[in-house]
Parts: sequence; C-alpha cells; structure tokens
Amino acid sequence: MSRPAFAVPASPSLSDRFDQKIFDAIYSRSLVYNTCWEDPAVDRQALGLGPSDTVMVITSAGCNALDYALDEPRAIHAVDANPRQNALAQLKIAGIRTLAHDDFFRIFGEGTHPRIGPIYHELLRPHLTPFAQAWWDRHHHWFADPRQPLFFHGLSGLVARGFRRYLAMRPALREAVHAIFDAPDLETQRAHYDERIAPLLWGKPVDWVLSRQFTMSLLGVPFAQRRQVEAQHAHGVAGFVRESVEYVFRELPARDNYFWSVYVRGHYTPACCPQYLKPLPFARLKRGLVERIRLHTDTVTQFLRRTPAKPTRFVLLDHMDWMSGYKPQALEEEWREIERTASPGALVLFRSAHRDPPYLATLHVGGSPIRERLAFDDARAERLTREDRVHTYAGFHIARFPG
Ligand SMILES: C[S@@+](CC[C@H](N)C(=O)[O-])C[C@H]1O[C@@H](n2cnc3c(N)ncnc32)[C@H](O)[C@@H]1O
Repeated sequence: MSRPAFAVPASPSLSDRFDQKIFDAIYSRSLVYNTCWEDPAVDRQALGLGPSDTVMVITSAGCNALDYALDEPRAIHAVDANPRQNALAQLKIAGIRTLAHDDFFRIFGEGTHPRIGPIYHELLRPHLTPFAQAWWDRHHHWFADPRQPLFFHGLSGLVARGFRRYLAMRPALREAVHAIFDAPDLETQRAHYDERIAPLLWGKPVDWVLSRQFTMSLLGVPFAQRRQVEAQHAHGVAGFVRESVEYVFRELPARDNYFWSVYVRGHYTPACCPQYLKPLPFARLKRGLVERIRLHTDTVTQFLRRTPAKPTRFVLLDHMDWMSGYKPQALEEEWREIERTASPGALVLFRSAHRDPPYLATLHVGGSPIRERLAFDDARAERLTREDRVHTYAGFHIARFPG
C-alpha cells in the first residue's frame, strides 16, 4: 500500500521509542562517520566563500571543513556533539601539520600505515586533546591492518564491512561493482550498471537489510529520519536507496565519486579522493589554511551561546532530521541562537531525508515561519542537487537571512 506523500506520523510509536533508545545507546559510545557523507563540491558552490566569511559547520568526519578551508574563509568553526567525530578531525589536522603527503595519504587515503604506532605516538598524539588521546590510544590500531582499514571501522564502517562480505559471496556482482568506477564514459557506465549490476544487486535480501532500523542506526539514520524517507517513497527505504544508487551510477561519472568508491574499494585512490588528500591542496592546508579551523565539542546551540563569532555561513548537514523527531523544542532553541548570532545576510545550508521536511512547516525563526524569515533559493538548490555525488538526501536547502 503506498502511503500518501508527506504523511510523517506525528508521535513516535513504542517500537520507535525503543529504536531511539538503541540508537542513543550505540551512538553515545561510538564514532559513527569515518568519512563525511555530504558532497563539499556542491556545498562550496552554494556557499561562495570569501576572505571575510566565518563558517559554522557540523564536523562529522571533518573532511568537509578541510575542503571549505581551501576557499580561504577567515574562520571555520567545526562543531559536533560527538567528541569522537572531533577526535577524527583532530587526527587529520595533526597529520596535516606534522606529516609528509605520502604518509598522510597512506593513513587517511588508504586507511592504513605499517608504522602507525610510532607515527601516532611521536608525531600525531602530541597535537591531540586529552579526550582524543584517550580515544586514539585505544583505536589507532584501526590503521594497522591493511585488510581492515579505517573505512571499515566506526558504525558506518560496520555496514561497509557487511556489504563487502555480501559482495565476497557474489563474485560476479563484486567484479561488476568494482569495475564501474573505471568506466571510461557515462554511456559505458550506464550500460554496465543496467546490464551487470542492477539485475544482480536489487532483490529481497538487500531490500530486507535496508529496511531494518538497525542497519539505519549504524548509518546514523534515527527512526525519525527513516520515517521521513518511508513517507515519501512507495517502496520505503529500500526503494529510496535504489533510486539514489541508480541516479549516482546512471547520471554521474563514477570515476571521481569517492563517496561510494571508498566503501567498495576500502580505500581512496589518488585520482578518486577528497581534495584535502591531493598533494597541492594538502600543501596549501599545511602552509596555514588548516589553522583557520577550530573544533568544538558542543551542540550547535551551546556553541552559539558561547562563541563571540558572528557566522556568515551555517552548514547544518542533516542533523535537523535527527532533532525534529524527538527534540522539536531543542530545534526551536537552536534556531533562536542561529538567528541571534547570524551576521546580516548569513547563508544557511542543510540537507534532509525528506524533499520538504515537515519541520519546515512548523519551525519559527524570529517569530515568523522559517520560510518567511529566510529567503529559500529552491531553484539553485534543485540545480546543485543534480550534481550531488552522494545523492542520498531528497532535500537540499539554501536559505539566506535578510541583509
Ligand atoms: C546528522 S549527521 C550528519 C552526518 C552527515 N550526514 C555525514 O554523513 O557526514 C550527524 C552529525 O551531527 C552531529 N550532531 C547531531 N546533532 C547535533 C547537535 N545538535 N549539535 C552538534 N552536533 C550534532 C552528530 O554527532 C553527527 O556527527
């Protein structure tokens, strides 16, 4: 039975509350994201950063804050409520400060280094905060085993490991999935996907795994966000994921899609990786741009309450989906602080699992509905979404405060 569009159930059911307890339990002890799953190339076009800009961005794995720094804004405040996410970002920043590109690429590109022990203790650890030292003292072995590099660790890494095991049981599918990232052109790639991947990939087993809340929790998708996907897709989460994968592999060149290739190959390559891992951008970050990034372990609300900064750009990722389901008051509170600290004309970027998330209809900013208080550039967002190499967010939003 297909559900009417946009019908997200108002109150969480008993099983939703149970799912949320599980989500909070695993989330509060783990590193969730071992890479950022949002496309900074799209963000940078929307942000149009310049030397007078101050950015507030949610850290996640820190990849995108490093990418934004290449546009030389005055300051980047990377904020995350999960200290383990900031501990990963700290390790990358320590690596940029202390390592040559080769060693840096082995650790954060290939996800493993044979001499990670001495490199960690002698070069990286001295640059970390006590929390990050305690965390990486126990987890720097994540970079020690070439069969199990960084990208197979953390909660999202567990799902990647599960998918790799599944591919190992299906050699024809495995070979086809690996080969698509070397397709010479889009036409060849599209035919390869249609003939060699889609018929083998989609079916009951994958649909079943994708429709488990436990799988979604490992991917950092709480029940509220899952419900938003189900509310707008006749075939639920599995249907939504299939549509996203089909768009990514039929409409966008796979050879530079490092978001999907890293979880298939288990590593980045020099030709298919985030900007901060490439020699020239790495050198620019090392020459000083990396020092423009400040990491904060805080909620967005707490950070904005404490900071003297007046951000001109806010990048909220999809975290409002998280809060809207079980902390709607906290979302209003957060926007009170965004409104209070925003520079005139400040730009806000965010993504959502829903094309038009219900909270946009109820959220008030400065006493007005958010869509009246801020100017939403839906046409531009729609255009940029078509280039998005991740493509697992139905909603991308570019909104500007009055000048
Ligand atoms: C919503 S996701 C964004 C992840 C992103 N989609 C990605 O894939 O890279 C969660 C990130 O936001 C952080 N987060 C969620 N709510 C937050 C809040 N209120 N303040 C600060 N960080 C928050 C989580 O710790 C997590 O790192």
